[in-house]
Amino acid sequence: MITYLVTGCAGFIGTTFVHFMLSRYTDIKIVNLDALTYAGNLENLKDIEDDERHIFVHGNICDKELVAGLMARYDPDFIINFAAESHVDRSISGPEIFVTTNVMGTVNLLQQAKNAWYDAGQKTWKPGKKYVQVSTDEVYGALGPEGFFTETTPLDPHSPYSASKASADHFVKAFHDTYGMPVNITRCSNNYGMYQFPEKLIPLMINNTKNHKPLPVYGDGMQIRDWLFVEDHCRAIDLVTSAGRPGEVYNIGGHNERTNIFIVKTIIQQMSEKLHDPEINESLIRHVEDRLGHDRRYGIDPSKIRADLGWYPETAFEDGIVKTIDWYLANETWMERVTSGEYQQYYERMYKNR
Ligand code: NAD
Ligand code: TYD
Repeated sequence: MITYLVTGCAGFIGTTFVHFMLSRYTDIKIVNLDALTYAGNLENLKDIEDDERHIFVHGNICDKELVAGLMARYDPDFIINFAAESHVDRSISGPEIFVTTNVMGTVNLLQQAKNAWYDAGQKTWKPGKKYVQVSTDEVYGALGPEGFFTETTPLDPHSPYSASKASADHFVKAFHDTYGMPVNITRCSNNYGMYQFPEKLIPLMINNTKNHKPLPVYGDGMQIRDWLFVEDHCRAIDLVTSAGRPGEVYNIGGHNERTNIFIVKTIIQQMSEKLHDPEINESLIRHVEDRLGHDRRYGIDPSKIRADLGWYPETAFEDGIVKTIDWYLANETWMERVTSGEYQQYYERMYKNR
């Protein structure tokens, strides 16, 4: 029996990770610690609420006593930290919570793991334990038209979000370098798929397209992201957790670079065909004021994870985007629930003056 303490699993990637792990393995236990912020949604986990292998704990990764208690009670083999404030636009308008959750929360998890796993007298770690930090390619900053991020690319974050993630990565590395803590850091490119909160590009555009609302493209729309289907990311995290060499960083991505405007036009084309709706067309596109400090291009070199762990992305963008649109169209109630209430105010705040 392997026990995982996984944080942030009521959010987008964590939700898929829990489902992926429970469908793949029988003899596991997942303790899921999530504060249920605006981005966390327990409804995502409804189908597994009676599954004894999944224990949901409502709480904050910054809570020292709570995390220490979970370490004592469940003695996890692995900690995987997905919990974060994850949206760049929100970090530009309010950076503080990004420091609290992404930096202080990570340090608390590291500290509680060390308290439970480290024998300071002997300078030894309990065997078989590991801490995995789910990070992002955004810590590397932006690329020009050529080249890719490798694991040795210097960190050069630009947004408050990426600065907080880079800071957390430094702490994880420091716990490894100072105390010999067994850790891995994964740095993944932009994910897409089901259960993603519609503040992010793809679900926001799907939702607006369906409702004939303007599609706000920042600046010229020629920024490039390297898109990865969320299940491919989850498979990579599972591999890194079980087989990654302690102390190593692994980039995760797969040469699926697309411009934002291409993504938006693909969504329009797919949805107009699926819904037979003539009002869905490119006249919905609005070029709006650009994001401050907007990174121009991200692109991952995944050679290391491929060579070390045999991972490669299995889902081509053209297939993944169709699956994703189909999921949102089949789950209208999910979208309606998450976009009611606070979301309306968020949308006003972010897009009114653009
Ligand atoms: P998300 O915003 O959808 O979900 C975050 C989850 O963390 C939510 O369930 C939220 O309730 C929880 N959370 C937030 N603050 C918390 C706290 N203080 N204590 C406990 N739980 C808390 O994020 P996501 O897109 O699923 O991203 C998950 C992780 O993957 C993040 O660390 C993010 O930086 C990283 N990542 C995301 C992407 C992407 O494209 N979405 C790409 C690379 C890396
Ligand atoms: P996003 O999904 O917020 O992810 P990230 O900023 O972490 O890459 O944005 C992806 C790209 O889409 C980014 O270049 C900003 C752009 N974008 C828009 O053009 N319009 C929008 O409404 C949003 C949310 C994003």
